[in-house]
Amino acid sequence: MNVNVAALKAAPANEPDYADQILGPSTASRRAFREAMLQAVELVADGTATAGSLYSGTSVQGLRGLLDNIDPLPDVGTGIAAALADIGRPALEHALAVGHPAAVAHLHCPVAVPALAAEVLISATNQSLDSWDQSPFATLVEERVLAELTKLAGLPALASGSFTSGGSQSNMTALYLAAARFGAQARRSGAILTSEQSHFSIRKSAAILGFADDAVIAIATDAEGRMSVSALEAGLRRAVGEGRVPVAVVATAGTTDLGAIDPLDEIGNLAAARDIWMHVDAAYGGGLLFSRHRGRLAGLERAHSIALDFHKMLFQPISCGALLLADQAHFAPLASKADYLNPEDAAFGDAPNLVERSMQTTRRADALKVLMTMRAIGRDGLDALICQTLENTRAAAEAIGARDYLRLARPPSLSTVLFRYVSASGPDLADEITLKTRAVLFHAGIAALATTVFDGRIHFKLTLINPRSTPDVVHRVLDAIGETARELETHHARA
Ligand SMILES: Cc1ncc(COP(=O)(O)O)c(C=O)c1O
Repeated sequence: MNVNVAALKAAPANEPDYADQILGPSTASRRAFREAMLQAVELVADGTATAGSLYSGTSVQGLRGLLDNIDPLPDVGTGIAAALADIGRPALEHALAVGHPAAVAHLHCPVAVPALAAEVLISATNQSLDSWDQSPFATLVEERVLAELTKLAGLPALASGSFTSGGSQSNMTALYLAAARFGAQARRSGAILTSEQSHFSIRKSAAILGFADDAVIAIATDAEGRMSVSALEAGLRRAVGEGRVPVAVVATAGTTDLGAIDPLDEIGNLAAARDIWMHVDAAYGGGLLFSRHRGRLAGLERAHSIALDFHKMLFQPISCGALLLADQAHFAPLASKADYLNPEDAAFGDAPNLVERSMQTTRRADALKVLMTMRAIGRDGLDALICQTLENTRAAAEAIGARDYLRLARPPSLSTVLFRYVSASGPDLADEITLKTRAVLFHAGIAALATTVFDGRIHFKLTLINPRSTPDVVHRVLDAIGETARELETHHARA
């Protein structure tokens, strides 16, 4: 066969060489990469796209309109500069500014600069963690970071883990592994005991994994929102009495609303005495491991599995979580072999293929950004940042307590604080005003607040995981809540 090599190599005259848009060893593609990255970085770094605002206030309809005006797939591409102007700029202009001090709605953190630098490397190298030959260094980075994390969590030497897309995936994987000990019996009659305040991903995972509808048993909590150990004991006794198999006890270290940390040590005693898998959902509170407050997680080391999220308290770009296992042998149910990927007859000796620890196949090298963050900011820096958020939250609770139009639900445990607007016209109107106030302040770009239901009533929730959400910012937000709520109430009275 005659192959015209020259024709294959040369782009036809007057046609752009599209291959330069694919990052590779060629000078042209590296130049294209540099130019694109510098322009994107400059767009973010110069700050003019957002002009320091929390949110542009544009309605859903307005955003759809903007996008409808853009041809997403033109015949002839616009080039990077125009694409950044048409798409990149509005993507910044109409983003929720997660680094804004008044973005205090959700467990949705501002991002650490070293992690953003790592994201460039993660994306540009595009390593995939499924097999070692697709990620030689990155696979070992993940192992190294997991070794550090299991040490921080106080797990035994046999412990290891796997990076995940976040708490939901970590929780589901843990429940899958716990259930695997019982085969089909788990789905028929398995019980998962967890507090009534635990994250909804526990219930959702049980449903996805094929557990029966009543498999998740909600255990009562105390006044601070922590799982009651006596109620857990009673729940376990009842479940066993009904012939159910206790597949797992799921404790929470940092509930989503109250930040409550279940009594891990006592729960560990109970689980150990009955040989039940103890999973700790530390997606939120696990951040304390990086601070002087790690002692508040005493008992974490009793767990069979732990969910950690770094895109909550550790300032990591989404997505970034990990599942830790006290005994890495418990990953066995995920260790299926594929001829093309991790065959029985390994081509690379004992090189680890991390697909054997994950529900995913292709998987990002997210451990690199955690490693870069830990190394660049260090123990003291992370401790200072986390302590600042806890201190801000304590001060916020005080500020709420000092306002007669607000009522604090509970003293904060971590970095969330729940409080209620008090209306002279009663609780139903207070609920309505709370929801409306949230929307008004969001659209005005004044504050992104959350609301949640607590004790049957709608409460405001501040999530203060940005160290810059200092007391002065919180005072302004609380004043804005008061002014807006009173205005809405007056309007309601007149209507
Ligand atoms: C306690 C807890 N567990 C799990 C999750 C789910 O984590 P992710 O959103 O990373 O899936 C959350 C989310 O807020 C959470 O608060």
